[in-house]
Amino acid sequence: MDQITIIRPDDWHLHFRDGEMLKETVPATARCFGRAIVMPNLVPPVINAEGVIAYRQRIEAAIPADVDFTPLMTIYLTDKTTAEDIRAAKEAGAVAAKMYPAGATTNSDSGVSSLETLYPVFEALADAGMLLLIHGEVTQKHIDIFDREKAFIDQHLVKIVERVPTLKVVFEHITTKDAADFVAEARDGVAATITPQHLMLNRNDLLDGGVRPHNYCLPVLKRSTHQEALRAAVQTGNPKFFLGTDSAPHAKHRKESSCGCAGCYSAWSAIELYTQVFEDLNALDKLEGFASLHGADFYGLPRNKETITLVRESWTVPESIMLPTGEPIVPFHAGQEVNWKLKV
Ligand code: DOR
Ligand code: ZN
Repeated sequence: MDQITIIRPDDWHLHFRDGEMLKETVPATARCFGRAIVMPNLVPPVINAEGVIAYRQRIEAAIPADVDFTPLMTIYLTDKTTAEDIRAAKEAGAVAAKMYPAGATTNSDSGVSSLETLYPVFEALADAGMLLLIHGEVTQKHIDIFDREKAFIDQHLVKIVERVPTLKVVFEHITTKDAADFVAEARDGVAATITPQHLMLNRNDLLDGGVRPHNYCLPVLKRSTHQEALRAAVQTGNPKFFLGTDSAPHAKHRKESSCGCAGCYSAWSAIELYTQVFEDLNALDKLEGFASLHGADFYGLPRNKETITLVRESWTVPESIMLPTGEPIVPFHAGQEVNWKLKV
């Protein structure tokens, strides 16, 4: 097959950032995705209805004139979030709330430190028909970083899913066989997003031959058996798994540093790389479900109507892109070949 046409995909997890950066990140995503779930971990984070409305306006101002793209907004849960904040966020158009355990990742300092107190908020989300999106890693420093996702499932996720049975939960950017198995076996209303990097890479790609800061993201890449389990999960076509790039830009100097930031900026190559993965898995017939159908169905949103076409054509991801801030950024898969190209 040299060409594949699928319903326009959506990105169910990404980071646009703010300010000047939007001029780079919004067009890069809108080139192929119809909608995107926009993460709220700005500095300061988007924690209420006013923040949702203002951030959406800034994003909308950066959408190219000839493009049809809809940002789907989220609010950031803190220890102080109330049920009333959830209802107001719903009024403002937010579709989901994002829960970061405090200190788990980039800009998560105001995240949640006590999950127990948040149950009224989880109930309010379920009542409002909003989803709970979870960064599923514990933050206890004595727990090995490679085991933090599994520990989160055992300590917290099992409980959340059981105690609020009507709440739709997305376990974001899963990285382990444990997470893939948990989601596959969980009740209806539990799903997961999977990034291109966690399907394509494992922890060797982080450390073999030298430290590779541009492959560093959180949750961190795991051993190859976990990568294989994620690939097997998408290969089945199970609708509980869908596309979320976690495209997360950081300027080059912030990645190539003695304490480098976590995040891979994949917007310019993500749909092409997912296509490559599905082709490797001999599962191109499952790409459309993963990229364009399962997420919309899970969120209870209409499927997109238009289509996109990818053609078999080799191209190389640029080594560097200049951000509107005047700083260079190294995109995910920089300098490497991609076998598929979006037809424009
Ligand atoms: O690698 C990551 N980068 N993981 C996250 O959870 C956050 C993201 C970011 O905002 O940079
Ligand atoms: Zn993310």
